[in-house]
Amino acid sequence: MEKVLVVFYSLTGNTKLIAEAIANSINSDVLELKPVKELNAEGGSKYFWGGYQAKMKKKPKLREFDINPLDYDLIILGTPVWAWTYSPPIRSFLSKYDLSGKKVALWTCSAGDGVKAMNRFKEALKNTNILGEIRLQEPKQHGLEASKEKAAVWAKEIIQNIKN
Ligand SMILES: Cc1cc2nc3c(=O)[nH]c(=O)nc-3n(C[C@H](O)[C@H](O)[C@H](O)COP(=O)(O)O)c2cc1C
Repeated sequence: MEKVLVVFYSLTGNTKLIAEAIANSINSDVLELKPVKELNAEGGSKYFWGGYQAKMKKKPKLREFDINPLDYDLIILGTPVWAWTYSPPIRSFLSKYDLSGKKVALWTCSAGDGVKAMNRFKEALKNTNILGEIRLQEPKQHGLEASKEKAAVWAKEIIQNIKN
């Protein structure tokens, strides 16, 4: 039996809702990354400070957690797109844990198509075995149930393919 962990960061809830849908569909553990100093999710200042952090490739300090991601066989990683790349807390996570050789699957939530960010996400994980990728556009605004279902089916297929 594969041990599967869903790891994600979310500021305004889209990525979190998808993380929960995925974890429920495949019965996996979940790890939510939280920076020690979180941005204000309300209002416009998040675009400035978050965009700055992402562009400068900042690695904000994360709150501690008691899960060891390296204990898992497959890590499904999700992030919002910030400034055409993956979010700073994910950068912190990837610098802390060397996922080389691990099975991973990646999803993004974004306002636009998220293609550039997904390419950067994959580049950051090029030493891993990437089993799947999916880009979702603003799930909370454009059909949350459909987005959750799409992500759940995607995750189930990845698990099924590992078993076959
Ligand atoms: C700081 C910041 C930068 C963003 N930059 C982009 C971007 O470059 N491209 C894009 O398509 N969406 C961008 N967005 C939109 C988010 O990716 C989108 O709203 C996503 O669904 C948020 O996920 P969350 O609700 O899990 O935090 C940005 C949002 C923030 C807060």
